[in-house]
Amino acid sequence: MKARRVLGILLSSGLLATAQESDPARFRGHVFPGATLPWGSVKAGADSKSNDNQAGFVSDGTPIVGLSSMHDDGTGGGKSLGNFPFLPLTSKNCAQNDLTKCTTTAIPTASPGYFAIPLKNGVNAEVTVTQHTSLHRFTYEPGTEQMLFLIDVTGDLGGSWHLEDGHVTVSPNPKTKGTRVTGMSAFIPSFGQSYYKLYFCFDAPDTFVQAKYYETSGGMKYTDLNSTGTFDHVIQRSGMAGVLMGFAPGSSRILSARMGISWTSTDRACAYAEEEVPDIFAFDTVHAAARAKWNEVLGTVEVDATGVSASTQELFWSSLYRTYIAPTNITGDNPLWESTEPYWDSFYCIWDTFRVVHPLYAITAPIAQAEIIRALIDIYRHAGWLPDCRMSLDKGFTQGGSNADSLLADSYIKGIKAGIDWEDGFKAMVKDATVMGDFEVEGRGNINSREKYGYIPVHDNDHPQSAGANTRSGSRLLEYVYNDFDIALVAQGLNKTAEMYHYFNKSADWYNIWNPDAEHSGFGGFIQPRRADGSWYYEGYERDGNYRPDHCSPVFGHDSCYGGYGGGEFYEASSWEYSFYVPHDMATLVDIMGGPKTFSARLDHFFEAGFHDLGDEPGFLPTYLYNYVGEPAKTVDRVDSMISLYYNTSVDGLPGNDDSGSMGAYVVWSHLGFYPVAGQDTYLLNRPYFPKITIRNQDTGAVSIVIASGLSERNKYIQSATLNGKPYTKNWLSHDFFRYGGTLKLVMGSSKKSSWGTGKDDIPMSLSTKGFGCDTCVSPAKLHGNETSTGSGLSNSPSQVPDTGAVVHDGANTVQEDASSKPNGFFSYLIFLLLAD
Ligand SMILES: *[C@@H]1O[C@H](CO)[C@@H](O)[C@H](O)[C@H]1NC(C)=O
Ligand SMILES: *[C@@H]1O[C@H](CO)[C@@H](O)[C@H](O)[C@H]1NC(C)=O
Ligand SMILES: *[C@@H]1O[C@H](CO)[C@@H](O)[C@H](O)[C@H]1NC(C)=O
Ligand SMILES: *[C@@H]1O[C@H](CO)[C@@H](O)[C@H](O)[C@H]1NC(C)=O
Ligand SMILES: *[C@@H]1O[C@H](CO)[C@@H](O)[C@H](O)[C@H]1NC(C)=O
Ligand SMILES: *[C@@H]1O[C@H](CO)[C@@H](O)[C@H](O)[C@H]1NC(C)=O
Repeated sequence: MKARRVLGILLSSGLLATAQESDPARFRGHVFPGATLPWGSVKAGADSKSNDNQAGFVSDGTPIVGLSSMHDDGTGGGKSLGNFPFLPLTSKNCAQNDLTKCTTTAIPTASPGYFAIPLKNGVNAEVTVTQHTSLHRFTYEPGTEQMLFLIDVTGDLGGSWHLEDGHVTVSPNPKTKGTRVTGMSAFIPSFGQSYYKLYFCFDAPDTFVQAKYYETSGGMKYTDLNSTGTFDHVIQRSGMAGVLMGFAPGSSRILSARMGISWTSTDRACAYAEEEVPDIFAFDTVHAAARAKWNEVLGTVEVDATGVSASTQELFWSSLYRTYIAPTNITGDNPLWESTEPYWDSFYCIWDTFRVVHPLYAITAPIAQAEIIRALIDIYRHAGWLPDCRMSLDKGFTQGGSNADSLLADSYIKGIKAGIDWEDGFKAMVKDATVMGDFEVEGRGNINSREKYGYIPVHDNDHPQSAGANTRSGSRLLEYVYNDFDIALVAQGLNKTAEMYHYFNKSADWYNIWNPDAEHSGFGGFIQPRRADGSWYYEGYERDGNYRPDHCSPVFGHDSCYGGYGGGEFYEASSWEYSFYVPHDMATLVDIMGGPKTFSARLDHFFEAGFHDLGDEPGFLPTYLYNYVGEPAKTVDRVDSMISLYYNTSVDGLPGNDDSGSMGAYVVWSHLGFYPVAGQDTYLLNRPYFPKITIRNQDTGAVSIVIASGLSERNKYIQSATLNGKPYTKNWLSHDFFRYGGTLKLVMGSSKKSSWGTGKDDIPMSLSTKGFGCDTCVSPAKLHGNETSTGSGLSNSPSQVPDTGAVVHDGANTVQEDASSKPNGFFSYLIFLLLAD
């Protein structure tokens, strides 16, 4: 049996309004619940007057203040986009001077490409989309005398309009025999520098009966508009502006409206709208096309859902759906530079998405992934650097390392090459590693000091022009080191042998901040920040003279580990968690942690003591690390417990902000039964949630099939496996399986004691054991004379839990958040004046 691919949008952190929620912080996923296409430029939906409205609509019962065409998805920064909001109004209910009463009467309905919300004023608002256009259908109540409609030309979710003069025109449109409104305004991006300009082209296929233009510059003013003339006006940056129109209901009481959006010009916005939606009344046709597009993109994966619960299926498909919402494909609509390369935007941020979203595209959407790589390399060509974060055409703030390097390498080693100039890709990566820029938004910081010391000293300022905050010295080093390993892998593929050895070598630098004597909870050896003089740094990470590697974990100092100048030495995860992050040389890590047994006990303790945080992306990989010590059955239990603890299909069924689909992608991988170690050719095997999974490679046409025979609630451990008919005992898989296709057959059973995947030769590659084709690589611990495999004499007693204080679980990814937004104040203001008028 094939599962239906489209089961409706996951309601997690999105829909399902209940009247007055007492705990709106529950809705922390910030998932976009409206209508969009896969990677759509336009994301249209309703906007709630809520503190959590980063993606527009929130299920907390707060009033609906508009419907807008642009949104972020799952983000944790400031509020942005939400342009250009409009509202259907009537002289009833919420139009009685008080927009705060304009809420919904029922639960909104959403499915891929469609969103509908019944407003309390009696208007049912529906929206569907094409790539650059939203198409609206407003059904007014019987008896409506005039269908009022308001467009806010300067509105966004963050109330950020003011940086440049805007523009608006209102004129008759002979093609639709109706009214056209066009305009432009400038706004501030959510988590980046500078500002962006956005253009729209609105068409109602009716002539208004009455209309006014409002603007607040120099006091509230209005101008009566004439339906046969053209109103053409510059909006002063000091004010806000909107257009109110009244339409006669005729026989249908339906007001259709089309909103084209462009990053380039109003002409482009109008051209998109006319090309993509030639018939403004063809709502159902446009909706059906959007749904078909979703089915095409979701359809590279097929599952046999025999015996699988409806909620598991819904969780899986909804999570997969959300991995395709961002980034956005705005090829052909980039005003910044002329290029024949694709342009993609809304990388928010690569630190979040490189681990799980882009590796997923490598197997489910390699054509899109190739375009994304080309776009990133083109951004390097024209803007100087690969981004970590980029949105609304602006440079965004870098969270950790230069993880675009790992994103690129992941695709490179997986053979994604369509149209990609990998020599330029390599240059971009090397620039990250060697040239210091403003590492707040590009490249890396502290390159000179790392060269000198082999690590980033705490509070280092080696370059006065390098404006990034000199924090995160611990986590940034670990990330730079892995980024270096990835540069080596690409160098290897491009036959750049000297560079390969150079970067493999640099990837051992993590060991320079490994303090073998640091001890916590009975486990020894931790990543610890270090001063330039070589001494270990304790400030903020200490109690009674002992190092506190649990700082930044949910049990201690969880909310103080972000970017910026106030952030500490680790970003959004603790040393406990980052100390497991050496994905290129787990063999050395296992060794210096005291060998497989201690490593496994240490992982157990990490989860049980609450040091682990699934709400931020560094928490994903640790749940699979048991495979590195030949204990795949423990991975099964651990990943299962993550899914059941943190995920479900209700509004709070996510462990943190979805981060452009990253939290969802963890669900997808866990259900497929293998997990990508991003930036290398390793998939860690685990139990699938479906008895049969088929993945079609769009690029090569290959078909990969995973069969889990005997799978059930009880029979969830792999007993034996064959790959293409031959016995397969490794607990990891290489990308060849997806590139060339094949059948992986797993025999499932209830025993955790199977020997499958437990042998020395069954565990994944490491550099120090001659993996990844490095013949000269050795363990940095051995190099330093620390070749223990018996641990450093510590007790390793997992029962010794420290006094860590209260467990505070709040996975929200609050990256330098700006909570000072003013959601849609102008609407309320305008309506007040309108009706007072
Ligand atoms: C609208 O403009 C036209 C042409 O300029 C003019 O003839 C007409 O009287 C105007 N109508 C109103 C209601 O002002
Ligand atoms: C991205 O947009 C361009 C221009 O519209 C289009 O040609 C291309 O197919 C799109 N890419 C994907 C993966 O949909
Ligand atoms: C690298 O060298 C190998 C062996 O000589 C060759 O097969 C391969 O095509 C070369 N790759 C590149 C990218 O030049
Ligand atoms: C090796 O480990 C021991 C025990 O943890 C430590 O005292 C010693 O300094 C380490 N040696 C080097 C050279 O780092
Ligand atoms: C969904 O998961 C959240 C935790 O992420 C939990 O608090 C909530 O109770 C769960 N809801 C249901 C219906 O299982
Ligand atoms: C670094 O490279 C040199 C020369 O190839 C090699 O001898 C050394 O073992 C390498 N270091 C590590 C940590 O792999």
